[in-house]
This record gives sequence, structure tokens and C-alpha cells, in this order.
Amino acid sequence: MSTKTLKNIKKQVMEDDSVEDIMEEITGSEQEMEETEENDDEDEQMSSTSQEDPSVDTLIASLKTYLADSFSVYVKASYFHWNIEGPDFFQYHELLGKIYDDIQGTIDPIAENIRKLGGYAPGSFGRFQELTAITEASKIIPPAMVMFKELHDDIEKLIASNERSYELAEINHEHGISDFLAGRDGMLKKWRWFLRSTLANR
Ligand SMILES: [Fe+2]
Repeated sequence: MSTKTLKNIKKQVMEDDSVEDIMEEITGSEQEMEETEENDDEDEQMSSTSQEDPSVDTLIASLKTYLADSFSVYVKASYFHWNIEGPDFFQYHELLGKIYDDIQGTIDPIAENIRKLGGYAPGSFGRFQELTAITEASKIIPPAMVMFKELHDDIEKLIASNERSYELAEINHEHGISDFLAGRDGMLKKWRWFLRSTLANR
């Protein structure tokens, strides 16, 4: 067994892959080991083939990414809520509070949907950073309008991530999940509208 394979097993044990996946890794053939060398990150491999292979595993991988995206936007909106300044402080502070509160409320249902499908939910900062398309906020506190623009662009990414999972849920006839994600599409587009309107004529 190669060092990289051992590293991969250790990584899976420490994170969110199933016992079956780990056993498969341990008992895998030489050929499987070679494939592992080429595709060190199983989630990445699944995401890249989502259009050709719309399996439940692909839906699980997509939901893991959506969970990581949602958690990252929740953290960033909270950070902006705490630190925003300006003459309209109270309104801005309240809007950011509503956004992070709404997104925070979706994190647990997304994780539980991953479990319902037989997957394991990621739950560490490192793992979320591996999975997410959302860039971490700067340590330097940005001006209010820069915060709103950044959050607007992140919400756009979250809408796209939500949509990918929605389509895969529909293909897999997971209508409970697609119904939940359809509701999220409406809310996320409402936040996008609020942020666009806040940014207008500046
Ligand atoms: Fe607050």
C-alpha cells in the first residue's frame, strides 16, 4: 500500500467518509491504488463528473459542497454584521443579521439530508475550506459597500451551488430534498435583491 493511500485513509477516518469507503480503500487492488494516486480527493472527482454520472453519490458530493458554501457565507455574513460601520449602521447591521440567521438555519438540514442519503457530513474548518468556492474574508475590515458587494457575489455562488444540488436531487427522485432546495432558491434570491438594492446608485 502506498504512502499516499495510507494518507488518504487517515484523511477519510479523520473527516467524513464512510467505514465502507475506508475498508474499500484498505482492500483495494493495485489498479484501484493507481486510480487513488490520480484522484486523491473523492469529492473533487465526483463533482467534476456530475453531468455524466448523476448518481446518489454525486448528489451527496454536491450537498457536501453546498454545506461548505453555506457555512462559509454564514461565517462571513456574521463577521460583517459584527464589524460594519457607517451612518446607516443600524439598518446594515440588521440586514446582515437577518442574512446570517437565515443561512445558519439551513446548515443543519443540509447536513441531515447528506446523512439521509447515506453519506457523512463534513464538519471542520479545514474540510469546509477544501470543499467551498467561497473565499475567506480579509482580516482587514472592509468598508460597508465592499462588504455588501462581496456578500452579493457570494450569494450568487450559493444560488449556483443550491441549483446544482437541486438538479441532482430531482434526477435522483429525492423530492423531499429538491423541495427544500427550491425553497432556498427563493430565499437566496431575496437576499441577492436586498444586497443589489443596497448597492444601487452608490
Ligand atoms: Fe447580532
